[in-house]
Amino acid sequence: MTYMYTKDVWEQKFRDRHMKLMNPEKSLCDNIAFLKKGTVLDLACGDGRNAIYLAQKGFNVTGIDFSEEALKRLRYFADERNLKISTKMMNLNDYGMLLKLKSFDNIIINHYKPEEQVMEVLPNLLNQKGTLVICGFGYRQQVNERISEHDIFKKDEFKDRFNNLNLIMHQDINDDSRGFFEVYIFEKN
Ligand SMILES: C[S@@+](CC[C@H](N)C(=O)[O-])C[C@H]1O[C@@H](n2cnc3c(N)ncnc32)[C@H](O)[C@@H]1O
Repeated sequence: MTYMYTKDVWEQKFRDRHMKLMNPEKSLCDNIAFLKKGTVLDLACGDGRNAIYLAQKGFNVTGIDFSEEALKRLRYFADERNLKISTKMMNLNDYGMLLKLKSFDNIIINHYKPEEQVMEVLPNLLNQKGTLVICGFGYRQQVNERISEHDIFKKDEFKDRFNNLNLIMHQDINDDSRGFFEVYIFEKN
């Protein structure tokens, strides 16, 4: 399964976007204090609005996405700002590839719903005391022509998901312009 659109549609969407970096996710900026100093893995990073923001805040960021166009744009925006961000083109449904990654101090997943098998490997990709931030369409979000049932978090879906990660924050957000979102922040024991 892919999130919202097929890979080809995502490629086209990024190709068609103006060469302008979007603002970082507000909930990420509001909760940046939960992140640990050091490395960040940004899964499904898109064209890098959050990766760039975190690199500017001094984190050492790696962005992963399956869209070549998105990563090309991310590198352009990073170069423009003299920032160093590692990128990897990877389909997150290729769980074997995920297992080959090193571990990070933080993982962020923004506006994406990870498949169950991805959730399974996330704790192994986190260093001790590491932080995991997941933000996606919340249970109050209506299905529409862009957003399918599969893309939406079920009510409290991830609350008790991990036995080695503690839930330290759970927010339900109504963003008028884009819909309903939920944010989960976990810390590794
Ligand atoms: C709504 S965008 C969010 C991008 C970014 N996280 C942000 O907040 O701006 C979803 C992203 O997921 C990526 N994506 C969708 N399915 C994927 C998959 N199976 N593997 C890797 N990336 C995927 C798309 O290419 C797109 O960049």
